[in-house]
Amino acid sequence: MPDKHDPATVSDATWAVHGGNATDASGALRTPLVLANSYLLPEDPSQLSWSDPNTRIYARNGNVNQHALEAKLAAMDGGESALVFASGVAALHAVFFTHLRAGDHVVVSAVTYEAVWRLFAELLPSRYGIEATFVDTTDLDAVRAAVRPTTRLVHVETIANPTTAVTDIAAVAEIAHAAGALLSVDGTFTPPPLYRPLADGADLVVHSLTKFINGHGDAMGGAVIGSRELVARIRADAGVDVGGVLAPFNAWLIMRGSVTLPLRLRQHLANAQRIAEFLDAEPRIAFVAYPGLPGHPQHELAARQFGGRGCGAVLAFALDGDPAVQNRFTAALRVITSAVSLGHDESLIVHVAAGARGGDEHYPEQFQRYGHLRLAVGLEDADDLIADLRGALDAALPA
Ligand SMILES: Cc1ncc(COP(=O)(O)O)c(C=O)c1O
Repeated sequence: MPDKHDPATVSDATWAVHGGNATDASGALRTPLVLANSYLLPEDPSQLSWSDPNTRIYARNGNVNQHALEAKLAAMDGGESALVFASGVAALHAVFFTHLRAGDHVVVSAVTYEAVWRLFAELLPSRYGIEATFVDTTDLDAVRAAVRPTTRLVHVETIANPTTAVTDIAAVAEIAHAAGALLSVDGTFTPPPLYRPLADGADLVVHSLTKFINGHGDAMGGAVIGSRELVARIRADAGVDVGGVLAPFNAWLIMRGSVTLPLRLRQHLANAQRIAEFLDAEPRIAFVAYPGLPGHPQHELAARQFGGRGCGAVLAFALDGDPAVQNRFTAALRVITSAVSLGHDESLIVHVAAGARGGDEHYPEQFQRYGHLRLAVGLEDADDLIADLRGALDAALPA
């Protein structure tokens, strides 16, 4: 019998609607928004630990909206526990802050989200003595060769932002575990039900909730999901006493946005595949990076790893021209908006020049030659999006 309160008995779409909604004494069908900073103390509060994340005394220690969202996200990703933060970067930092010490070594994907690049290229090594090796994690021999006796963590993205390189999570988990290290995976580009890295052996999954999971471009958030023990350590060390927790209103908004995640993902994925195929067939396009295209170096891995459901909704490409041509193209778009971020309802595009990315030397040759346009495909009608791209191509590079 399906039970909407038991994720093991219902499908992804049903859990997306009902997960985390506990009816309280008011009888409200949706978890009410609780904006209070403070909670009534017990009669004798004199021995309370102000750092206890499990005592409801202050919104930084935990709040009903955060906890409802955590319950929903943990089950969505097949994890025992989840913890939510004010942004995806706060969630990533919480993993690194909690699970690394001075002298520890980390293996990180050579192409990774810009903030992670800077954390491991500059901030954590110079301030806290953490060593990092950047490797192409699509090359398993390179990952094996990078591991040292002091390696405590391997960190990868399911699909790398922005090159769209796909890492074999099960294989990298095996390498990490053989070395006694944890594997943390940024699943922002492939949220559930598209992909669940924990099922392939990842220890911790991080999402920027700002992207697909909220989906409406109006709230920032981040989450870490994993075993009860690993998440409890993050909650104890990086929650209350570092304090980058998610605001109740954002938790409430993300809870609402996530209701339609499975439905939205289908449209995102189908639109992205069609647009990638259109661009790939267009002679004025210098290159298209999207794992759903047969020419992508990890096309087969992506099809297998993501169960044939799709390959995400972010692609990188460039017109066959200089930076001024790329700018003329984005300026001529009439449906797609020039703005950062991804996973929103609306399609967004951003032009990044060669040399403007941290770790540029690790990028594929075409990214270095042309720079790239990162297109985050939204929920608009695919025909409208393709017509918009075609019109902007004609404006930037008349045939
Ligand atoms: C793969 C990935 N991880 C993490 C982040 C950071 O998330 P946030 O902007 O919510 O801090 C981003 C943002 O673009 C991202 O693309």
